Amino acid sequence: MTDLSDTQQQLRDLAGQRDAVILAHNYQRPEVQDAADFVGDSLELARKAAATDAAVILFCGVHFMAETAKILSPAKTVLMPDTHAGCPMADMVTVEGLRALKAQHPGAAVVAYVNTSAEIKAEVDVCCTSANAPDIVARIPAEQPIIFVPDRNLGDWVAGRTGRTNMIMWNGYCPVHEEMTVDEVRAVVEAHPGAELMAHPECSRDVRALATMITSTSGMLRYPAGSAARVFVVATETGLLHRLRALYPEREFVPAARGAICPNMKRTTLEKAIQALDEGLNEIVVPPRIAERALAAVERMMQ
Ligand code: 13P
Ligand code: SF4
Repeated sequence: MTDLSDTQQQLRDLAGQRDAVILAHNYQRPEVQDAADFVGDSLELARKAAATDAAVILFCGVHFMAETAKILSPAKTVLMPDTHAGCPMADMVTVEGLRALKAQHPGAAVVAYVNTSAEIKAEVDVCCTSANAPDIVARIPAEQPIIFVPDRNLGDWVAGRTGRTNMIMWNGYCPVHEEMTVDEVRAVVEAHPGAELMAHPECSRDVRALATMITSTSGMLRYPAGSAARVFVVATETGLLHRLRALYPEREFVPAARGAICPNMKRTTLEKAIQALDEGLNEIVVPPRIAERALAAVERMMQ
């Protein structure tokens, strides 16, 4: 970690004093990513949260991620810089709605994307992230129907990858990925001859159909290492470009859609991070009865 600004250094010093680890998602603002101890995708961040020795986890991401960290590390204090950093996709599924769907399909296994609240995780059999969803689904007996919540795009991609025809999809989506249109993405790819398109599974099926690689955010960070392409069009939240450009300075990375910015991810600033850590603000609390059941679904995924 070099050339930190005064504000970044202030955050790092405070983290040292408070025995805190700073975890940041790949979509965070560049200056927040550069001040973090670890930057990663949802699965990597969950693993780090489970393994840390620090007393405090300052989670720079969105609410469901901080909640997952708390579920995995209940003895730690988990803080968020901005408590309003939610995820609209996670809010698209309700406990009542999910219970009604389960009642309609009593024999179904229930798989939840980690982009869900702890209350939803407590209702499901197993969680998944974009990095492991096909593996998780492939382990469920082929004849058993699967209720998949909340992302219809991730679910559709998993069904295609695993050949499952018995998945019942919740009708949720990520507005940031859903709003990338196929015409817009195709135009960007065509404007860069020889470029490869990397797309997140939260993209629509039409956008995914144009891609050479469909993977999680950290999968996209690894992919160029094994590719001969010089230019990559990136169909995900634009925060990922910061690390891509740092990791591969000799390559060019172009956003598939300039407007692909998650306002919730961008709520976290260095100033809010410092204040939260200094004053112990926005502590994540998960009621024990919910946490216990949600942990079972998250642990099943981790195994
Ligand atoms: P991953 O980093 O796990 O690919 O997740 C993307 C995302 O949308 C998180 O909100
Ligand atoms: Fe939710 Fe989409 Fe933002 Fe991720 S990018 S936090 S899925 S709204």
